[in-house]
Amino acid sequence: MFRSPSDLSIPVIAIDGPSASGKGTVAMLVAQALGFHYLDSGAIYRVTAHAAAMAGVALDHEAGLASLARGLQLEFDAGEVFLNGKPVGDLIRGEEAGRAASRIAALPALRAALLERQRAFRQAPGLVSDGRDMGSVVFPDAALKVFLTASAEERAKRRYKQLIEKGFDANLGALLQDLKERDARDAARSAAPLQQSADAVLLETTHLTIQQAVQQVLDWWRDCKTA
Ligand code: CDP
Repeated sequence: MFRSPSDLSIPVIAIDGPSASGKGTVAMLVAQALGFHYLDSGAIYRVTAHAAAMAGVALDHEAGLASLARGLQLEFDAGEVFLNGKPVGDLIRGEEAGRAASRIAALPALRAALLERQRAFRQAPGLVSDGRDMGSVVFPDAALKVFLTASAEERAKRRYKQLIEKGFDANLGALLQDLKERDARDAARSAAPLQQSADAVLLETTHLTIQQAVQQVLDWWRDCKTA
């Protein structure tokens, strides 16, 4: 049977949370375990910020950014992100790109321009998506909504390890400071602020391994399906 790109019968697991909480890794592993598709929505904001820098569009030019976002040639394949057919994963993973993404993510017109693009990832047999507003705005009917977090200190350590592994320079103190600023900006903005919605379950991972966090989401998913 043909299914439209946003068929509401296709299940979604929405995993939201603050910077460097590990939600991307957990979401990807849950998707793998269930054979579901995976959407890293933060990568879309990061690529848009990168494309704006390339095109000379200022990070506060809301209409210009929204129009740029609507025209982006963006693809995900096997863990890599392609902009206009070129891999850009390495260019968008640094802290600078994250900061730029967080700035443009505060602009409502830009967020609106990216909405349908994100919903198009809802494909059979299911989707696991991670971000800030997956459960609140993009997939409000998600079957399972998780708010995944950890202490700021633990998140700074996780981000430090991730950056060093990818060959970036990193400083733990500066990362902690930056994370706190990004948390404050993401939580204070009026457009889709970062917050745990009432229908999301809290997954506090400061003292959990990745495997334990993944298992908890899979257990909740099993409970959801049998409920
Ligand atoms: O890895 P980290 O959590 O720092 O960043 P990310 O998930 O790649 O997202 C980069 C930035 O995009 C975040 O700081 C958010 O401001 C923004 N974002 C958003 O507003 N909404 C989303 N659904 C995903 C990301």
